Amino acid sequence: MTRQSLEQLNKTFGADPAVRFETGNGGLIRAVLSANAGEAHVYLHGAHVSHFQPKGHAPVLFMSARSIFEPGKPIRGGVPICFPWFGQSGNPMHGFGRLTEWTVESAGRQSDGSVSITLALSSNDWTRSMWPHEFVARFTARISATLEMSLEVTNRSQGELSYEEALHTYFVVSDIRQVLVHGLEGATYRDKANKMQPRQRDNQPLRFSAETDSVYPSNTATCIIEDPGLRRRISVEKHDSRTTVVWNPWIDKAKAMPDFGDDEWPGMLCIETANTAENRIHLAPGQSHTIRAVIRTESM
Ligand code: BG6
Repeated sequence: MTRQSLEQLNKTFGADPAVRFETGNGGLIRAVLSANAGEAHVYLHGAHVSHFQPKGHAPVLFMSARSIFEPGKPIRGGVPICFPWFGQSGNPMHGFGRLTEWTVESAGRQSDGSVSITLALSSNDWTRSMWPHEFVARFTARISATLEMSLEVTNRSQGELSYEEALHTYFVVSDIRQVLVHGLEGATYRDKANKMQPRQRDNQPLRFSAETDSVYPSNTATCIIEDPGLRRRISVEKHDSRTTVVWNPWIDKAKAMPDFGDDEWPGMLCIETANTAENRIHLAPGQSHTIRAVIRTESM
């Protein structure tokens, strides 16, 4: 893939002031999307949304101050795309989608005042060296007062394509020990922080008092983060996603991560819109599947 240049991107897509490409952290190119009702930054590296802020509200996505911005390394915070596998079911961890530059296919203002961008990743020699399949993945972010993200994957192989995926969304919270998550009451999950033990939630909203790394299979519920400190609710509504992952590293894991500040864990929470393990996607040749998440904020 030829690297896209800033000049070329701005010439092709920058006629509308709603879309501008600039050099972001680490010299990586990002799109700055300015809609009537909100703004966002999307790095070409990983098709990674690193910032979203509805007008009149505080930023919604957490970014680590220690994040690395380098080809071949994942960005810590925002919305890493895990594809074509999740976690350690392949190597590298969480797949290769977050490690490489995606190609901008379109960007611009829509008739409803929202601004969207679509980036694509197609199979190439590098992806085939890790995963011998032909595919096209297309990620679209649509910015308005809400952040809508979708990942469409098309099977270009002769045989079946089977993959996992996650929109691994990091949210800003005032203090993880004070927030509640609604929507997972009574749900069953696997506790990755405790040897993958199967567990069931009680009927209370989720609260946090220790490392949390939980995979909720066959779960399509909308999750709502209630944050009294920031006086807001964030809802994560999902479509064609049957797995939800909830993650906060807490103290020891935070210290063990080189690209995450030791003291950053209270200020973030991941609610991930995913299809993993038994919910992995199987596509016949030529078939496509789209996973979608809609993020809304509301003052309280
Ligand atoms: C979560 C996983 O989705 O991502 C955790 O469930 C993992 O187990 C976390 O620690 C972060 O992963 P990474 O590769 O970005 O450090």
